[in-house]
Amino acid sequence: MNSPALAPSGGGASCPFVRLHGVSKRFQVAGSTRAILADLDFDIRRKEFVAILGESGCGKSTLLRLLCGLDSAYDGQILVDGVAPEIGNDEAGVVFQDPRLFPWLTVEQNIALGLARFRLARAEVGQRVNEHIALVGLAGFERALPHQLSGGMAQRVALARAIVARPAFLLLDEPFSALDALTRSQMHDQLLRIRAATDLTMLLVTHDVEEAVYLADRVVVMAPRPGPLRATVDIELGWPRNRADTAFQRNRERLHALLGHGANGAHAIHATLSTHSVHSHS
Ligand SMILES: Nc1ncnc2c1ncn2[C@@H]1O[C@H](COP(=O)(O)OP(=O)(O)OP(=O)(O)O)[C@@H](O)[C@H]1O
Ligand SMILES: [Mg+2]
Repeated sequence: MNSPALAPSGGGASCPFVRLHGVSKRFQVAGSTRAILADLDFDIRRKEFVAILGESGCGKSTLLRLLCGLDSAYDGQILVDGVAPEIGNDEAGVVFQDPRLFPWLTVEQNIALGLARFRLARAEVGQRVNEHIALVGLAGFERALPHQLSGGMAQRVALARAIVARPAFLLLDEPFSALDALTRSQMHDQLLRIRAATDLTMLLVTHDVEEAVYLADRVVVMAPRPGPLRATVDIELGWPRNRADTAFQRNRERLHALLGHGANGAHAIHATLSTHSVHSHS
């Protein structure tokens, strides 16, 4: 596609698009119950881009699975555009760390799978698939097989498959973590182009603090023990963002501190929570 400005398409309506209220999740492991999420409350506005950071095992992927309806066993209330998430309700597209492509299908056939449940006319499928191949910058690779693609290209196919049915909500679970640094930063710009060209509301799970600051309107920091969120941080930077800016670095450091990274993590958290754009939930 042409390269639209790397900027979001604008703010959304004031009523939340996603609402979590008192959400708790437990797993049964070897006969005992383990609480993973406890009493989570947060909202996502329509067209907002929220990133979730938190230690490994704190429940980020679990939360994402609840939000897209892959798991419906939880306490509390989750509403996405006013209804409880359910597989097949067409509201959400999901991209995982691994592109999960069918190796015997071409790029266009893999993307067309995202439309399989709609029983559309062949021409309509072809048109929508082509549009999305262009949107993710893969024109010319329609007939390629997954083994003929680089990691970044395969992940673009996964992105196109997730949004070809034009969901309102895109959930991304560490989609770029297996890519090298250069490809990862190209994918960040690709995602911002997609954001500018669509009305998607996005939720990104990541371990990469810089990625969160580069992409998100707001970053949610989850606590390692089940409980309320540790903090949410509004990233009050304009678009496009420059990783070398002092303000960018300040946001990065603030989030590292909230995550407890570095020798002075605990002190830094205390200092950070007193700044105006951080909302503590603990
Ligand atoms: N199906 C399951 N049955 C039992 N326990 C589970 C199940 N799925 C996840 N868990 C547990 O829930 C906790 C949270 O897992 P989850 O995958 O959500 O973590 P995460 O924050 O995404 O971690 P990472 O950053 O490593 O991906 C872990 O302790 C995990 O063992
Ligand atoms: Mg995970």
